[in-house]
Amino acid sequence: MMRALVLGSLLSALAACGDDVGPAPSDAEVDAAVTADAERPLPSLEEGELLPGGATTLAEAGASAFLQPAANLSLSRRSQFEAGLQFFRLQWVPAPGRADLDGLGPTYNADSCIACHIRNGRSLPAGNAEDGVLLRLGPATGGPDAYYGEQLQPRAVPGVPAEARVERHRIDAGSVTLGDGTEVALTRVEHELIDLGGPPLAATTLISPRVAQQLVGMGLLEAISDVALLAGEDPDDVDGDGISGRAAHLESGDLGRFGWKAAEPTVVGQTAAAFHQDLGLTSELRPEPNCPRGQTACVAAPSGGEPELVPARLAATAAYVRLLGVPPRRGGDDAETLRGKALFAEVGCAACHTPAFETGAALEPELTEQRIWPYTDLLLHDMGDDLADGRPEGDATGVEWRTAPLWGLGLVDEVNGGFRLLHDGRARSLAEAILWHGGEAASARAAYRALSAEERAALERFVFSL
Ligand code: HEC
Ligand code: HEC
Repeated sequence: MMRALVLGSLLSALAACGDDVGPAPSDAEVDAAVTADAERPLPSLEEGELLPGGATTLAEAGASAFLQPAANLSLSRRSQFEAGLQFFRLQWVPAPGRADLDGLGPTYNADSCIACHIRNGRSLPAGNAEDGVLLRLGPATGGPDAYYGEQLQPRAVPGVPAEARVERHRIDAGSVTLGDGTEVALTRVEHELIDLGGPPLAATTLISPRVAQQLVGMGLLEAISDVALLAGEDPDDVDGDGISGRAAHLESGDLGRFGWKAAEPTVVGQTAAAFHQDLGLTSELRPEPNCPRGQTACVAAPSGGEPELVPARLAATAAYVRLLGVPPRRGGDDAETLRGKALFAEVGCAACHTPAFETGAALEPELTEQRIWPYTDLLLHDMGDDLADGRPEGDATGVEWRTAPLWGLGLVDEVNGGFRLLHDGRARSLAEAILWHGGEAASARAAYRALSAEERAALERFVFSL
């Protein structure tokens, strides 16, 4: 394809510079790329593409798009969905309290699921630092911090010291010049722990900040078969495209799918982990209180039951998360979006952000055998030093992240009144998010830099239509 050749030559020109923040491509090269683009036929829509969640896809998007039950739930199944919704919204209280509401803490991040997954969308780390982002802790060799555990809990019940307060600083990270001369300023974020409830943080402990993702199609991602997921792997980069995604092989034998590092294999596992680490409630899957041994007041604090979250409630919450509907595409079939779709494939985004999968057996009957469009391969990729947190988790190393699903991303602004992209929310725009991509995504990033302003706008229109 002509366009691919033009991009190829631009890529080698960029690669020849050695430094990937090096000189921009010449005007002639950019003009050639634009001319080639104008001559290209548009791709067509694929079957089912505008229904990203298959039969679960909602009729309408809008500000409540992440809160709706799957479109194909029967009335009686809807009441099951609503039963789980209660526990997702519930504000838990410290023990001893009302028997069916207590168990919060002793240390915790928030008192409800919805406090972070605002309207089931994303947390906004620009606002309240403690709500918007959580911090995982531990050394580069793996495992938890010896005193503070694997996650910092900045809140605690009365009588127990909170682990610390968090201050978030946005730091200038220079700028990148795009092919047409446009400058994009980048910022990073750093987190400082103040008012520590125990000893100073160990010098070897790394901080891995995470924003809460939009909750779209979790049950459908769970229903992609292991076989389909493994088919995308190329750990030794046999096809030579520079991309060597690999599945997260967890110690349990399961494949990790959820979280920024794919450390959790199932929705119920992720839900139990959230209750345990974020809210401080024990469950059958996480029976031990979330109190590192050295934190004596935490260890001694009253319990809300054994477990604090009865099995039926854990199951109901997980079912609610699985049964959320997927928003429809918005304006996916206009010419600019289709041009953006072509560019998404050509610059190499689709090599990791795999457009479509077929689901297999599912825990909820409504989710089986659906053609879904999550734009992720659910695999781990080396994303380079600039995104690395240095802290291994599950099967992921300190430079690896799970390809982020892109469905629903274009609705986050409407749902949450703003958005911050990437695992720590450092990127304030799509351009910034792409320009932070490195490692296996370095050539996609370079190809993006070489696009014209019109092409970048078309790519953005496509991504935000997902
Ligand atoms: C303190 C904020 C916070 C609270 C409270 C919280 N979450 Fe999360 N949630 C996150 C963050 C951050 C992640 C990403 C975690 C990671 O990278 O491991 C996440 C990830 C998830 C995911 C996986 C998303 C994906 O794309 O892989 C699910 C499902 C989820 N949370 C459900 C819940 C449920 C259910 C609750 C309540 C029991 C809850 N969360 C409470 C912050 C929160
Ligand atoms: C080598 C695999 C790979 C390629 C190629 C790639 N991405 Fe990504 N993408 C990822 C991973 C992994 C993440 C999560 C990184 C993180 O948060 O640190 C990500 C994150 C993102 C995000 C942020 C999502 C969120 O929820 O915050 C966007 C947007 C995105 N990619 C778009 C693109 C576009 C557009 C392209 C093509 C120019 C592209 N990506 C190419 C792997 C890839």
